[in-house]
Amino acid sequence: MALYSEKVMDHFTNPRNVGIIENADGVGEVGNAKCGDIMKIYLKIENDIIADVKFETFGCGSAIASSSMATEMIKGKSIQDAMALTNKAVAEALDGLPAHKLHCSVLAEEAIKNALKDYYDRNGIAYDKAQFPDCEHCAHCE
Ligand code: FES
Repeated sequence: MALYSEKVMDHFTNPRNVGIIENADGVGEVGNAKCGDIMKIYLKIENDIIADVKFETFGCGSAIASSSMATEMIKGKSIQDAMALTNKAVAEALDGLPAHKLHCSVLAEEAIKNALKDYYDRNGIAYDKAQFPDCEHCAHCE
């Protein structure tokens, strides 16, 4: 069996939603201290809906495929749906990732949550801090 699914290869070689959003409503950046990979997510939010989302990922193929898939999964969805996105759901949507690459999909979940937290902070929206556990991998938060 191939190490990577066709979906992973597809999103790696033809990633969706790459780029930046000028004047984004929320920006989230996370890094994995071990591998050094970095992911940045930009959100445009209108009426509690993710109107647009773009990403920049400097990292491995699985991280790029995870970002691409995760952005597709939250685009047009509500903030609540985006908050509920798990790295497991991203990995499943990619038809699986090798076990040693699962942490790459964690970056996508954390980057989206960070961007939503930034949106809440910018707009003075109250939130439960427990929804945003400190990301253990993120060298940038320190
Ligand atoms: Fe670093 Fe994949 S190896 S995110």
